Amino acid sequence: MPSDTTPGAERERWAPTHGEPYRPTPYRPARMPGGESLARAAELRARMEERRTVRHFSRDPVPAQAVLDAVACAATAPSGAHQQPWTFVLVKDPVVRQQIRAAAEQEEELSYDGRLGDEWLAALRPIGTDAVKTHLTDAPALIVVFQQRYWLGPDGTKRKHYYVDESVGIAVGMLLSALHLSGLAALVHTPSPMRFLAHVLERPENEKAFAVIPVGYPADDCEVPDLLRKSLDQVVVEV
Ligand SMILES: Cc1cc2nc3c(=O)[nH]c(=O)nc-3n(C[C@H](O)[C@H](O)[C@H](O)COP(=O)(O)O)c2cc1C
Repeated sequence: MPSDTTPGAERERWAPTHGEPYRPTPYRPARMPGGESLARAAELRARMEERRTVRHFSRDPVPAQAVLDAVACAATAPSGAHQQPWTFVLVKDPVVRQQIRAAAEQEEELSYDGRLGDEWLAALRPIGTDAVKTHLTDAPALIVVFQQRYWLGPDGTKRKHYYVDESVGIAVGMLLSALHLSGLAALVHTPSPMRFLAHVLERPENEKAFAVIPVGYPADDCEVPDLLRKSLDQVVVEV
């Protein structure tokens, strides 16, 4: 477990609040002047539009604390009943990354050799992906995100988690934003099926892999597919 050396990080440790009474606390953030909101929103939009999924990574190391800070940002995500149903496994060990690559490529070969079906393969064609997953060993770090499908207590007690897919999806979105805004490149890789990840990383029975996120810098000769994003009027409906 990485120790959190960030100043101010020595706070109370979370424990389940299941069944506890409502405990309100004041929340009075300073209101940002409208002009500043506009300027920040425009800057953020421009920076986010630069984000691309990277599949060709340099082997250069990344600042470890920047990755931890990005995970800490992800862990501020809202979640159903504040159950925070996520685990982020940071994999730097090259032997383990190689194991993950070998297992992922085994699954991906079956997928690209027909398991995906024509419709899925056609959807992937413009993205240019295939069964070779060099990013799993080139990127200096992998963040393997697990969903905690239910809460599992130390004595084996199980409790239902609510909106797990939605909560983990939002956390991963925040993780990708944090990595990008910290100058790091990433990819959401979802080998299908990905049961092997829980096995290789020895995760408990309540955890199910959600995605593998290689993190690093783009290789000098990195290319990305020439894609268009939907324009604002294609995604917004104002009522
Ligand atoms: C849920 C999800 C699963 C994805 N799975 C894969 C994947 O397995 N392999 C891959 O190369 N890219 C994967 N991607 C990346 C998408 O292909 C990529 O986000 C999309 O093509 C748009 O490109 P951009 O991120 O550069 O804007 C995935 C993205 C999401 C959100």
